[in-house]
Amino acid sequence: MKEKISFLKNKIDLNSPNKNIVPVTTTIESNEKLYIGGCSIEDLVRKYDSPLYILDEITLRNSCRAYKKALEKHYPGVSLPIYASKANSSIFMSNLIASEGFGLDAVSEGELLTALKGGVPSEKIVFHGNNKSDEEIEFALENKIKIIVDNDHDLKRLEKISNSFNYDIEIMIRFTPGIECHTHEYIKTGSFDSKFGFGIEALNKLFVIISKTKHIKLTGLHAHIGSQIFELDPHNDLGKIMVDVILKAKKFGHNIKELNVGGGLGIKYTQEDDPPSIDAWIKTVSLSIVQACKQTKLDLPKLMCEPGRSIVSTAGVTIYKIGSFKEIPGIRTYLSVDGGMSDNPRPITYQSNYSACLVSNPFNNNSKNTFTVAGKHCESGDVLFKEIELGNCKTGDLICVFGTGAYNNSMSSNYNRIPRPASILVCNGEAEIIQRRESPLDLLKYDVLPNRFMK
Ligand code: LLP
Repeated sequence: MKEKISFLKNKIDLNSPNKNIVPVTTTIESNEKLYIGGCSIEDLVRKYDSPLYILDEITLRNSCRAYKKALEKHYPGVSLPIYASKANSSIFMSNLIASEGFGLDAVSEGELLTALKGGVPSEKIVFHGNNKSDEEIEFALENKIKIIVDNDHDLKRLEKISNSFNYDIEIMIRFTPGIECHTHEYIKTGSFDSKFGFGIEALNKLFVIISKTKHIKLTGLHAHIGSQIFELDPHNDLGKIMVDVILKAKKFGHNIKELNVGGGLGIKYTQEDDPPSIDAWIKTVSLSIVQACKQTKLDLPKLMCEPGRSIVSTAGVTIYKIGSFKEIPGIRTYLSVDGGMSDNPRPITYQSNYSACLVSNPFNNNSKNTFTVAGKHCESGDVLFKEIELGNCKTGDLICVFGTGAYNNSMSSNYNRIPRPASILVCNGEAEIIQRRESPLDLLKYDVLPNRFMK
């Protein structure tokens, strides 16, 4: 076995899939082919074509169950894990997380609709957003979905609408706790300089304003400090800060019953990544809240958390077919695949790293070929891997990129009018389609030629 694909030989942690690079059901069978969920990847591409998104049901369920189990173990109060659907939103994902007893966080009418259609009970859905439209607010209220108030604009509109109600609406407010953590600049959201939520210094004034409303009841607090976080300290600090804010709110007559600590637990994309386990993360969050409540003699609030990436990322892989090669002697060899920045915008956006292997014969390679894996888009920066050792490969071979379940499909585009890949669910040797492949014709659906141009 070569060092370059050593991750395929890592011991798989079934209880905390975010600590693995590959889905928990990944195997290399005696025919030297890659299998996930008991399905041959080569067979799947033969049937469904490429590029192809694949989700492994067992990895998904193991991740959900790890959160539930850890909450039951470490948090003595009531709790509800909520899936951050921005990570990967579909009717299937909504249905799966609902079947695991999860709630769901949505940030648009589209995500709300997807959650409801997938069967997530409305009382388990929360609605976020720093610039919700009037229609989105109305849609959430009509469906009895809890609104997380992000700013004065939200509050003013809710106040206006609820004035005509003959009942109270319960809200949560989002605030920025001022916690810095070591993650990519773009995915830091808990520091003071953030577009999301109320600044912690603005809360006293806000508590007074809410007290004066007729039908708005402040019952919950929300904070999210960032994404792909490997440290536990920031979430330990967050628990204490949130309990402090409960006490502050109490002085203004608000009885906070729910704390939502956001998401953010990182996953292992490459051998260098070493995220904490789901259990360790929940333990940290729970202990900090339990201890702070004990010290301040507060009843335990209902604890909510909002993982996205650590639920779905490791369950997902993307399969590409190799097309052209271009060798620039002494510099590099480009290997181009049939997808790229439209199905995975993370490398070009955040310089994210992934792990990958060939689908056929991933271990049996004598060559030390290093490639730059490029996408097919008309953009020089459309590069999925700056440097990767894949061994011998040729046009038509398949590459599997791991850890693509989160923020790939959901951030995908049609740049260069490239249709989105299909998504397939695999489980116990069976494969089912969960999102159909787009066709170039689909992409013309919304184009309109004005009448006078048709003459
Ligand atoms: N809750 C809130 C309010 C959030 O804003 C987010 C992520 C989450 C929960 C889920 O965080 P997670 O557990 O997935 O870390 N596009 C970026 C990630 C953006 C995260 C946005 N908010 C990426 O591809 O890395």
